[in-house]
Amino acid sequence: MASLETQLLGITFPNPYILAAGPPTAKGSMIIEAFKAGWGGAVTKTISLEPTPPPSPRVYVIKSGRDKRGMLDIELFTDLTVERWEEDLDIIRAAFPEHPFIASIAGGSEPHDWQEVVRRLEPRGVNGFEMNVSCPNFAEGKGGKLGQDSEALHLAVSWVRDATNLPVIVKLTPNVTDIVELARVALNAGANAFTVGNSLLGLGGIDLDTFAPLPTVDGHGIFGGYGGSGLKTGNTPMCCKRCQSPAAPCLRLRRYFKMAGCRRVFISRGVCSTNMHRGDVEWSSNHSQINRRT
Ligand SMILES: Cc1cc2nc3c(=O)[nH]c(=O)nc-3n(C[C@H](O)[C@H](O)[C@H](O)COP(=O)(O)O)c2cc1C
Repeated sequence: MASLETQLLGITFPNPYILAAGPPTAKGSMIIEAFKAGWGGAVTKTISLEPTPPPSPRVYVIKSGRDKRGMLDIELFTDLTVERWEEDLDIIRAAFPEHPFIASIAGGSEPHDWQEVVRRLEPRGVNGFEMNVSCPNFAEGKGGKLGQDSEALHLAVSWVRDATNLPVIVKLTPNVTDIVELARVALNAGANAFTVGNSLLGLGGIDLDTFAPLPTVDGHGIFGGYGGSGLKTGNTPMCCKRCQSPAAPCLRLRRYFKMAGCRRVFISRGVCSTNMHRGDVEWSSNHSQINRRT
């Protein structure tokens, strides 16, 4: 019988369907349910030393008629503490001793921010780390701002590289002019692979009654990150550009495919917003209230 078993960075995944970091991987019990449902791996919601309390509502569904075309979110990193994640990762490992999971991590402009999270999570059976240097919902020195700055990116990847021998995957931001340049910087600093990519900076829309951007929190709004089918058109060329240069594996979110000119096959079908729309995995509706206005 054909096998979907897939190797990446020395990790064996039972199949290449890997849940991307986000609400469907917001806590250990959700990852366990996803593994029971057949997912081949998961990347945790991004874990940082300080939990980030989430705004609410923080997701706005983009629709065309009745069709869902993606979502604009203003969500931050995890709202759980590192202690809670330590416990949750132990529970996942006990329930699924062989199933791979990657810890998504984030820090700021101090080595301690990154290295302490690695030090605490590595003994919990994680198979690797994915560095979130690409969330568009943060100000200077964190998330996407960090991943847009070559010098800061180089430093952050070096700190994580120094702290672990496990695979280090860097999740790149599409919100740059030349993604290959940033991939090269990360590779030189010790990254083993890339995920392409995080959400695209955007605006969900404007509330025509209040003129506030959507989703609106207490009458205010801000730019957020777009995830959804529209990213296919952007992430595909980005992945190919990246693969023509640095020779490290690239995990492309959304769809498995292969294209001439790429050095490596993209092995993963990691997705986030589509699972949320379709309800493929549990994610609690009060975790992120979806604004259902069209
Ligand atoms: C509500 C929401 C929360 C997310 N949280 C994270 C996160 O904590 N860490 C991360 O690296 N990416 C996060 N993402 C980004 C997704 O992992 C993914 O990169 C993005 O949505 C694009 O992929 P998609 O088109 O399959 O949704 C989040 C996305 C959404 C919609």
